[in-house]
Amino acid sequence: MKRSPIEVFSEWADQDKDFGMEQNHKESVENMLTFAFSKNSPFSFVDAGCGNGWVVRKVAKNPLCKFAIGVDGSDKMIQKAITLDPSGSYACANLMSWSPVKPVDIVHSMEVFYYVDNPKKMIQRIFNLWLKKNGNLIIGLDFYLENKVSHEWSDSCGITNMKLFSENEWLEFFESAGFESIESWRFGEKDNWAGTLIITGTK
Ligand SMILES: C[S@@+](CC[C@H](N)C(=O)[O-])C[C@H]1O[C@@H](n2cnc3c(N)ncnc32)[C@H](O)[C@@H]1O
Repeated sequence: MKRSPIEVFSEWADQDKDFGMEQNHKESVENMLTFAFSKNSPFSFVDAGCGNGWVVRKVAKNPLCKFAIGVDGSDKMIQKAITLDPSGSYACANLMSWSPVKPVDIVHSMEVFYYVDNPKKMIQRIFNLWLKKNGNLIIGLDFYLENKVSHEWSDSCGITNMKLFSENEWLEFFESAGFESIESWRFGEKDNWAGTLIITGTK
């Protein structure tokens, strides 16, 4: 029987599988952060769907980082983040209804947006409510139409609510939200792996 993403990832937190996700995602995230920080100016940062908060802890060490916040819908993930980093900023909330108190410069998200109820609306909310003018959204996705090996993950991981979109459909969500300077690329392509699809845009 399949379960919701929050149920499954809460179980993963209990089983310490969040540390495996960090290992699997870290090279793609490094590529995303290098792009996101290329302006070389002070920034505020949100990690949307932060899991155990490993990206927040990494980013907070950057001397240009004014503050970094992690948000995740799994209370187990957020409790783990707080245990690992008691002075860090973490919130347990559904991304479809949360927004930061003040808009930020960079919103980052790795392997999350296809789980939310309405990814197109989510991207519009980030544009409207989460980002400052000239702020950047950058997302990484391994589950997408052109990455054929990912198609069976909903069955193999037993997770409901995984939405399979093509690269062009994700780009269209950024365009219709109003983002400018939209770019996409694939990181780490090899053999039958199409790579992490990375998409970014500026408000
Ligand atoms: C594949 S994990 C990725 C975690 C982290 N970004 C990483 O790279 O290690 C997906 C995360 O998204 C969270 N998530 C899924 N749907 C969510 C939603 N609607 N609101 C908030 N968090 C959500 C899950 O709890 C989980 O921690």
